[in-house]
Amino acid sequence: MSIEMVKEYYGRTLKGSDDLQTDACCDLDAIPPHIRTVLSEIHPDVTARYYGCGLVVPEKLEGAHVLDLGCGTGRDVFALAKLVGPTGSVTGVDMTAEQIGLAREHEQWHAARFGYDAPNTRFLDGYIEGLDALDIAPGSLDIIVSNCVINLSPDKEAVLKGAYRLLKPGGEIYFSDVYADRRLDARLRDDPVLLGECLAGALYWNDFLTLAKQAGFADPRLVTNRPLAIGDPAIAEKLGGASFHSATYRLFKIEGLEGSCEDYGQAVIYKGGVRHAEHRFTLDNHHVIEKGRVFPVCGNTFRMLKESRFAPHFEFIGDFGTHYGIFPGCGTNIPFMGGAADGETSGACC
Ligand SMILES: C[S@@+](CC[C@H](N)C(=O)[O-])C[C@H]1O[C@@H](n2cnc3c(N)ncnc32)[C@H](O)[C@@H]1O
Repeated sequence: MSIEMVKEYYGRTLKGSDDLQTDACCDLDAIPPHIRTVLSEIHPDVTARYYGCGLVVPEKLEGAHVLDLGCGTGRDVFALAKLVGPTGSVTGVDMTAEQIGLAREHEQWHAARFGYDAPNTRFLDGYIEGLDALDIAPGSLDIIVSNCVINLSPDKEAVLKGAYRLLKPGGEIYFSDVYADRRLDARLRDDPVLLGECLAGALYWNDFLTLAKQAGFADPRLVTNRPLAIGDPAIAEKLGGASFHSATYRLFKIEGLEGSCEDYGQAVIYKGGVRHAEHRFTLDNHHVIEKGRVFPVCGNTFRMLKESRFAPHFEFIGDFGTHYGIFPGCGTNIPFMGGAADGETSGACC
């Protein structure tokens, strides 16, 4: 039932980003200049119906094969299509005909704008809980993104398990979504506005971490997060005392990652060469790795860098031969602890 409410909300109730009643689905992330340039190339009819809550643009996209879960009118699909280049591809999946229809209408326009002979994009009608039913081979994707969608799903476990199956080993899901500081009353999902505005379906952050681990993503990494302001007093009243964050996580598909960050005396050195990250490489909000510096890492971080597309850009020091105990401080970062972990604050809607 809630699926039909969400379709109605995004297909017919909302006519554009300005119709949103909270800032939950707005994007306040600081946008790096090269991404701002790419976004300026997206057709205005597409951006007018952008409902994301974060920036889903990881590093090193050239040639990557990407899937966007709940792509809407395709703002992120088209931006990523530019960034992966003509040898890469981006597929968007969405269940709402009005949303994905508008994306399809602009496919050729963006291919021409980016100077491609043919679109490197594809839009599939479908449900993110049923990714196996889509025309995508298991283990074929480098990256899955999603922007303010998974909170809307009635079966988040199926979404994460399906994403895990579609990723290549060493691939990642890099996604922004809304999280609550507590478990919400399930009856809130019956309110179409609270659900549609990405609030009522938000997971309690610790339940998300458990779910991600159960789906095979053993060590979720928080990249950015910011508190959300609920400006409308009537909506805030219905939500009781709960508070919300928009957070971007990256989850690597690497078998055998450990449940905690363990210290094997390892380190990495960033050699540079990742475009737009020549001087420092950001893995997550605990790992900003300066070029040329010996950077001690836990076993999980070592493997995330060594077994992913980032490996050519690092030197790897040490092995798993000797264990020195727990790696202090790593992998424990969560939203709601210390507020805006990366210096961002809530504020006016975008
Ligand atoms: C908040 S909007 C975000 C759209 C897009 N990611 C963006 O940033 O503009 C949520 C989108 O997810 C889609 N959606 C929600 N639940 C879905 C589901 N279970 N399966 C497929 N699409 C879904 C909706 O149709 C809508 O287009």
